[in-house]
Amino acid sequence: MEKILVNQKRTKVIYDSKEKTYTKILYPSLIKKIKFILKIRKYPGANFKYIADILKKNGIKVPEIVYFSNYKVITKEIDGKKIMDILIEGNKNEISIAIKKYIETVVRIIKLGIYFGDFSYDNFLIMNGEVYAIDLEDYRKDFFSKFKKRKMILKLKNKLNELKKLNEYLNKIDVYEEIKKKI
Ligand SMILES: Nc1ncnc2c1ncn2[C@@H]1O[C@H](COP(=O)(O)OP(=O)(O)O)[C@@H](O)[C@H]1O
Ligand SMILES: [Mg+2]
Repeated sequence: MEKILVNQKRTKVIYDSKEKTYTKILYPSLIKKIKFILKIRKYPGANFKYIADILKKNGIKVPEIVYFSNYKVITKEIDGKKIMDILIEGNKNEISIAIKKYIETVVRIIKLGIYFGDFSYDNFLIMNGEVYAIDLEDYRKDFFSKFKKRKMILKLKNKLNELKKLNEYLNKIDVYEEIKKKI
């Protein structure tokens, strides 16, 4: 049974409950497509694989890639919980563990010289006590990415401030400051 989870202009995500896989299909803008063709940027499918390999090599868990092509990635299901959902439904203890693990993971990713604009609690899952990073096609790791650190941490600050209202616990611990201290 297939279920469409995301159906937007630029992204489609389909869950296959029999295969236990997520299929992500990208519909990039023309400008981006030109960059892919001219090899200024990696195709999103290849980039997902490239980033997944870097993260894995550095001890950050990612879903197994079943298949990828230029605009498509199929990954095995991580049968866990999104950090976002733990923040909404979890108890105090679960929330505090999830935040600690999120901070640890994001710090490790940033320290690898990777650029990414959306470290949302939605893009990290916890399964068997371990964090998995999903949604990897827009991560960047190239000659320029390390120079975009300042821009990235500003984006991170805005994102985390915006998400503070998810849970009162997030007013007691400043997730952004914790990350900034460690990077
Ligand atoms: N391998 C996976 N295991 C478990 N859930 C996944 C997996 N891949 C995607 N998802 C689910 O699908 C949602 C959308 O996928 P994502 O790659 O984050 O797309 P988007 O670009 O729309 O945020 C995720 O928030 C998550 O709930
Ligand atoms: Mg996402």
